[in-house]
Amino acid sequence: MAKQPNMFVVGMFWGDEGKAKIVDLLTENANVVVRYQGGANAGHSVEIDGERFVLHQVPTGILHPEKTCVLGAGMVIDMPALANELAELEKQGISWRGRIMISPRAHFVLPYHKQIEEIAEAKAGIGTTKRGIGPAYRDKATRIGIRLGDALLGKANLIAKLERWISESGEMFKKAYSVDFQSPPDVAATIMSAVDFVGDAISSPGAYIDETARTKGGILAEGAQGTMLSVSWGTYPFVTSSETTAGGAATGLGIDMRLFDKIIGVAKAFCTRVGNGPFPTEGDEELQRKLRGTGEHAYDEFGSTTGRPRRCGWLDGVVLRYATRINGIDAIALTKLDCLSGIDELKIAAKYVDYAEFPVTSEEAEKVEPIYKTFPGWNEDISRINDFNKLPVDAQRYVHEIERIAMVPVEFVGVGPGRKDIILK
Ligand code: IMP
Repeated sequence: MAKQPNMFVVGMFWGDEGKAKIVDLLTENANVVVRYQGGANAGHSVEIDGERFVLHQVPTGILHPEKTCVLGAGMVIDMPALANELAELEKQGISWRGRIMISPRAHFVLPYHKQIEEIAEAKAGIGTTKRGIGPAYRDKATRIGIRLGDALLGKANLIAKLERWISESGEMFKKAYSVDFQSPPDVAATIMSAVDFVGDAISSPGAYIDETARTKGGILAEGAQGTMLSVSWGTYPFVTSSETTAGGAATGLGIDMRLFDKIIGVAKAFCTRVGNGPFPTEGDEELQRKLRGTGEHAYDEFGSTTGRPRRCGWLDGVVLRYATRINGIDAIALTKLDCLSGIDELKIAAKYVDYAEFPVTSEEAEKVEPIYKTFPGWNEDISRINDFNKLPVDAQRYVHEIERIAMVPVEFVGVGPGRKDIILK
């Protein structure tokens, strides 16, 4: 059998671009679906034959029998939540045993991290998902984090690590904020029961990914969140704490980047963000209401992890170009074009006054003035169309403008919520 391409899928905006649906489509030709950063802050929802699956830590590839899924070393894992997610999948008829590998180098998200985040959020107001992501990555960077491999050495070892955490880090928070932390033996008991539940799924996937990438191919790396939430390249400090860009996969998986053949950027036909921070093209209330939907449909713009209404606005061409460059995007998958049907006049931010590129600081990004290009909209329902040339001319023009701005082709156009509602252009 011919070798399959190894591919990345990354979000080009602030997450929620519809990556799960594109990954789901590309999984048909993949062998292994991997996640390389983030944790339970992600919420991927996929609808299959009317049934909705929401995944937080497990790659969406798990919904395809025969595919292997990897949770890479760059992730921070909430082990009890992961065990629940897998148990839930089992209830929905998805068998995962023998098909999942979890890197022992990934770090645990501890209950302590969530407690600390509650305190930090009250001060910083980033609008995080409160899944303990930032504190877990902070512990990783300050070398006090606890990894899955530590639990494999046994409960006593895990308790010792947790006790070290309490004395080196926890005490400081206890003093400053009078917070009470659950005892290490109790935390270890909960974690160990989740570790036992997943069994031998915790095993180093590095050599397996490398071998597969070189021989059969078909590695599909699924980025969580999006480029503008990257800790290095996003709207810092209103970002997540991991490297969400394609480059993050190199460290998050420990893989030779040259093995990847293609990087696909997922962009929604309009921009959204959930949580606080700059959003130059954020719409007025009326536009936001139109783009967001009412919440009665799964695809309306409400967070799959937190249920928060997403902030919505016009497509930002400056961000699109920036994300294309940062990730080295080869092709774009454009999602939710159908959601623009019925809007008389559409806008795309072509540039910002005084800034050639997305500004460095959030203070500047809060103030930038987008200069918009306007486009006539269309009224037709496009969700049954499966040929790009049959789309209303104005919808085609909108897609061509995106290609012109990003200087890469749009290869997929999402026109509806279902698994098959995608035009291959
Ligand atoms: P954290 O990742 O929970 O620390 O949150 C940091 C920022 O990233 C907040 O603005 C969150 O709303 C945002 N965020 C985190 N995960 C996602 C996601 O999967 N989709 C969209 N936004 C996210």
